[in-house]
Amino acid sequence: MALDLILSALQHPLPPGEARQQRLYRLLRSAILDGRLSAGVRLPGSRQLAQDYRMARNGVLFAYQQLLSEGFLVADRGGTRVASLPSPTAVAPATAVPDEILSRRAAALADRRLPEELLPFAPGVADLNVFPWPVWSRFLQQAWREVSARQLAYAEPGGEPALRRSLATFLRLRRGVVCAPEQIFIVAGGQVALDACARLLADPGDRVWLENPCYQAARNTMLAAGLEVVDVPVDRDGMAPADFLWRDKPPRLLYLTPSHQYPLGSVLSLERRLAFLNHLKAGENWLIEDDYDSEFNHAQPGGRPLPAIQGLSPEAPVIYVGTFSKLLYPGLRIAYMVVPRWAVTSFGAAIAALYRGGQAVEQRALARFIESGRLTRHTRSMAPRYRQRQQVLRRALQEGLAEPYVILGGQAGLHLTVLLPEAPPDVVLSAAAASQGVAVRPLSAYFSSAGGGNGLVLGYGMAEAERIPQLVQRLRLALDK
Ligand SMILES: Cc1ncc(COP(=O)(O)O)c(C=O)c1O
Repeated sequence: MALDLILSALQHPLPPGEARQQRLYRLLRSAILDGRLSAGVRLPGSRQLAQDYRMARNGVLFAYQQLLSEGFLVADRGGTRVASLPSPTAVAPATAVPDEILSRRAAALADRRLPEELLPFAPGVADLNVFPWPVWSRFLQQAWREVSARQLAYAEPGGEPALRRSLATFLRLRRGVVCAPEQIFIVAGGQVALDACARLLADPGDRVWLENPCYQAARNTMLAAGLEVVDVPVDRDGMAPADFLWRDKPPRLLYLTPSHQYPLGSVLSLERRLAFLNHLKAGENWLIEDDYDSEFNHAQPGGRPLPAIQGLSPEAPVIYVGTFSKLLYPGLRIAYMVVPRWAVTSFGAAIAALYRGGQAVEQRALARFIESGRLTRHTRSMAPRYRQRQQVLRRALQEGLAEPYVILGGQAGLHLTVLLPEAPPDVVLSAAAASQGVAVRPLSAYFSSAGGGNGLVLGYGMAEAERIPQLVQRLRLALDK
């Protein structure tokens, strides 16, 4: 009886894309799983079932065979029966509350997620509207024309040799990084680089010093790796640890954005760079130098930004991290880490065991893009644009906002930070701005705890100069509400 009822559904019209044999298979399978068909129930012979439900016999045989091979049915001399299976427990769907379904660390991360917008003033986004994709696609096409099976496999550990070579030269010339190509490891984004540092250079419970305020993805990564975070304040010269901190809470990892502190924009002074280096000892601690956007140097147009800490002491335990997200586009997901010479073998083995690389074709295209001078040309054409946007934004903020707000940063990169009076809270303002189509980030979101600072972080990468005054007007409307 139960079987007849189940099979009667064979007479209903078929949903698009489903054949009758698939429907028969699905009906029987779900009836066995939810207990409507119990162990031992005999199924009609294939000829009989085909006749009763006007199906091709082959279709019935196909469905039976599939269920037999998956273990739902058993066949013996007497015919085909439902197999005897442990009764499946009905699993009730969990609530969507992160605390219940995720690990404690991941639930904390889910709480901290910030939206990724392409709206004007979204911080840290390069101008993707003017990216020279016709040129870039020619480089990609050339790389695809020369592709071999090797480039379709997992990438070589460390990345494409051609890219490692061209980067070694580029980083030496542009950022004062002193390294051989083997010291460079290509990874799928700066975030992966930070994850690799957190997991391969420290153990859960080890201490990491973070700038406060800090790049959220860095904080998230360190928390996800189970590290103990020590929040160190930032002033106009960058991270400013009190002396006792070195004694009482020495770090295993020290994360810095020295060329352009994210989000306050300070540049770490040479004095502090050298002081940090003096505290480093191979085997004891590591400094992670995140150099994410210093190529756009506005303090000294055309000049080099302050060279990397790595180049001040190439044997020191420093991991230099860079990304192509700001120079090219974030969807490319190509970034790099430079590790000290003495760490290449062990670090290389560990990183190869944890991640598998790909995008060899893109990496080869990028190597040529760099060697041909195209990357420099692109950077040189974008830098004055960004500089102009920053100047226009600065002026518009000074003229357009009612109170004399303090504007921080601007020596490099793609964003400015505006400090606001304590009220109203920046989260309220940023929500109001979003409703006006302007994507400013609340500064408080970058601090480790409430009360760290009230302000807005404004990216000018995606904001054309002509539109900026009008966008600031809209921001003003949101602030005045
Ligand atoms: C401070 C900082 N570091 C590193 C990155 C690396 O980005 P990606 O993961 O896109 O390479 C970013 C990107 O926004 C950043 O803002």
